[in-house]
Amino acid sequence: MPALAIAALTRELRADELPALATHLLALDAEDRRLRFGSPMSDPRIVDYVRHIPLEHDAVFVVTDDELAIVAAAHLARSDEVAEIGLSVLREVRGRGLGSALFERCITRARNWRLRALFSACLAENETMVYLSRKHGLSGHAADGTAAGHLSLPAPTSSSMTEDLVREQLALFDLEHKKLWLALRRRMPDMPPVANDEPN
Ligand SMILES: CC(C)(COP(=O)(O)OP(=O)(O)OC[C@H]1O[C@@H](n2cnc3c(N)ncnc32)[C@H](O)[C@@H]1OP(=O)(O)O)[C@@H](O)C(=O)NCCC(=O)NCCS
Repeated sequence: MPALAIAALTRELRADELPALATHLLALDAEDRRLRFGSPMSDPRIVDYVRHIPLEHDAVFVVTDDELAIVAAAHLARSDEVAEIGLSVLREVRGRGLGSALFERCITRARNWRLRALFSACLAENETMVYLSRKHGLSGHAADGTAAGHLSLPAPTSSSMTEDLVREQLALFDLEHKKLWLALRRRMPDMPPVANDEPN
């Protein structure tokens, strides 16, 4: 795979983009699928999982590369008073803050939904996710091979609402920028393959 230029700009997935989310999750190897979902996931189970994400109720945030492929995703699943986060970042772009950016976006959105708390659950052996949960203020405990994290959410403020809107607008601007580059590259194949050099 060529070097990727990825900015940690998180965008909310639209319903017509769910097939792209399936493509992203299907690109995870067996071990990453086990870490993401807590148990082995076959291709048909992943497709079924994506098909049943209620986007009118939950939210999915994504980071895309210069080809507009999803390289990182967070599913924020909402129940009456709480939300739960599920994260996936492709191996080749890990350690560049994409998981953290998605985590922050989910915390802000769950807060703005006026929920009481955000939860994370992962295998206890998943040191990176346990670390990320702690880093973002979730307090946790481990039992029966599972690590659970919990963050009480404050009430939304005008600044938390604005933060969510600004992040979305920046990501939409980035999307239009990438679409323009793709269109230009189709017309002028000799152009460099990336629009920016470094992640934010
Ligand atoms: C967990 C996951 C989403 C993290 O994504 P990411 O983009 O690499 O995350 P970030 O770059 O924002 O942050 C990773 C942090 O973990 C740290 N880290 C990496 N490996 C670690 C380990 N073994 N133990 C503790 N911390 C670790 C990094 O140093 C980094 O720290 P920093 O934020 O202080 O710089 C990614 O590894 C992944 O998709 N794993 C497979 C699926 C999964 O486990 N999902 C979580 C369960 S829902």
